[in-house]
Amino acid sequence: MRSALSLSLAALGLLGSASAFPHPQPETEAVLSARAGSQGKANAVKEAFQHAWDGYMKYAFPHDELHPVSNGHGDSRNGWGASAVDALSTAIIMGNADAVNTILDHIAKIDYTQTNDQVSLFETTIRYLAGMLSGYDLLNGPASGLVSDQSKVDTLLTQSKNLAEVLKFAFDTPSGVPYNNLNITSKGNDGATTNGLAVTGTLVLEWTRLSDLTGNDEYANLSQKAESYLLNPQPSSAEPFPGLVGSSISIQDGKFTDSVVSWNGGDDSFYEYLIKAYVYDPTRFATYKDRWVLAAESTIKNLASHPKPRPELTFLSSYNNGNYDLSSQHLTCFDGGSFLLGGTVLGRQDFIDFGLDLVHGCEATYNETLTKIGPDSFGWDPSKVPSDQQDFYEKAGFYINSGYYVLRPEVIESFYYAYRVTGAEIYRNWVWNAFVAINATTRTDSGFAGITNVNAPNGGSKDDNQESFLFAEVLKYSYMVHAEDAEWQVQKGDKNTFVFNTEAHPFSVKHT
Ligand SMILES: *[C@@H]1O[C@H](CO)[C@@H](O)[C@H](O)[C@H]1NC(C)=O
Ligand SMILES: *[C@@H]1O[C@H](CO)[C@@H](O)[C@H](O)[C@H]1NC(C)=O
Ligand SMILES: *[C@@H]1O[C@H](CO)[C@@H](O)[C@H](O)[C@H]1NC(C)=O
Ligand SMILES: *[C@@H]1O[C@H](CO)[C@@H](O)[C@H](O)[C@H]1NC(C)=O
Repeated sequence: MRSALSLSLAALGLLGSASAFPHPQPETEAVLSARAGSQGKANAVKEAFQHAWDGYMKYAFPHDELHPVSNGHGDSRNGWGASAVDALSTAIIMGNADAVNTILDHIAKIDYTQTNDQVSLFETTIRYLAGMLSGYDLLNGPASGLVSDQSKVDTLLTQSKNLAEVLKFAFDTPSGVPYNNLNITSKGNDGATTNGLAVTGTLVLEWTRLSDLTGNDEYANLSQKAESYLLNPQPSSAEPFPGLVGSSISIQDGKFTDSVVSWNGGDDSFYEYLIKAYVYDPTRFATYKDRWVLAAESTIKNLASHPKPRPELTFLSSYNNGNYDLSSQHLTCFDGGSFLLGGTVLGRQDFIDFGLDLVHGCEATYNETLTKIGPDSFGWDPSKVPSDQQDFYEKAGFYINSGYYVLRPEVIESFYYAYRVTGAEIYRNWVWNAFVAINATTRTDSGFAGITNVNAPNGGSKDDNQESFLFAEVLKYSYMVHAEDAEWQVQKGDKNTFVFNTEAHPFSVKHT
């Protein structure tokens, strides 16, 4: 009761900073009540995880994902139990030993040599390989003690190696730029002649971590050879602004085949991994950091864009041969988090400030809709406003291109970085608002479903799919922002001991 009372005082703004209340008593109360409040919120996120986990176990396990409306299941990720593997690091961080043990028993049984489906090198790396490596790092590190049978933990590394051995033929190309879409039975591919920027440039953390844990540098070498073409882009026209590069690369010779620049889906996590690789190992990845700094400076100078009706908002446009495209995506909203991480690690206040501008822009995409959830894609080009959205655009500063919300994490993820880097309560409140809205609008009897229109009552209709990243990302960032400090949490400055892959799986950084 005491904490409930002081909570309401805090909510009314009656308990302020130490300078407003010079006596030690109220300050202690405020701190205690804030903590009690966050514990309650952290527990509410645990409840949501348990709800989704129980539904997945009942109706879908060991398939890849739950169909949360029909209570059926799907196998969109090769049928190896993607939701289970993707949920592992979140279950560990939440201290959910039951779920962790179930997942470890499942992982020991996966045969990564068998699937009837085309295998995506990128998706398999960021969800399965990273999920297992992260579990290994957490259970051998700050979460040791959660699992009593160490052999189950060791199996995570054995299975990571098994999976990489199955996948590594992808890099066996004339340039070393991998094929992304693989037939692991025939060691074949889809016949593509180019590979994308993000799918080529979002392997290096996972494959390097695997090498560092196994002592076999083959995996690191393969991923870094592929990345070398992205760090030294050819021809020079593929780099229209310093550090900002085109979006597709020839598998034959590693040259870029276009010069379309963006931070949107297809390009996004290439930029994300430049700075995260540096956080992982500042010695080996110093060049990656230099490239990220160039890209970040060019982005502030050339891609930052402010919608006419609300010039205080900042979005990122994309660029193609002299033309700017004034549209962006939910996926792109990882950008604020990337600037905040780079800014705090490198001590660059200008990057932190710009990251917060991006965070505020993405918050507007949530704040302005009927459901308080942001759309999958949006635009702010005055000449392209749909006639039925003119009023919305004038008020919100953007119009909706796709009103879907498919349980993506990026906006909450960047709120999380904003909170960890600045300590300002408002960002943690934004995470909570988003979580409450997602829980209210997407929840079904067995889990959470994508919705078709964030700006319609009840989100329009439900799309009967629960992506595995609901477990890996949405619920993890929503939980961690309210949870106690821990080794795996993002830290201010250059003191991080973990770094999160693009699917929110934390790896131990390389200790030098
Ligand atoms: C992979 O190749 C095998 C052997 O050639 C073939 O039977 C199978 O249909 C292929 N799988 C896919 C998903 O294309
Ligand atoms: C990996 O690259 C390093 C540096 O080029 C080289 O010395 C090493 O032999 C390579 N390892 C493998 C397994 O190819
Ligand atoms: C929504 O945005 C307005 C204006 O930027 C701000 O004052 C308000 O706090 C925001 N509301 C929420 C719930 O985030
Ligand atoms: C989430 O939804 C469930 C079911 O409606 C509800 O019981 C729970 O209180 C909600 N959690 C929050 C934090 O709103």
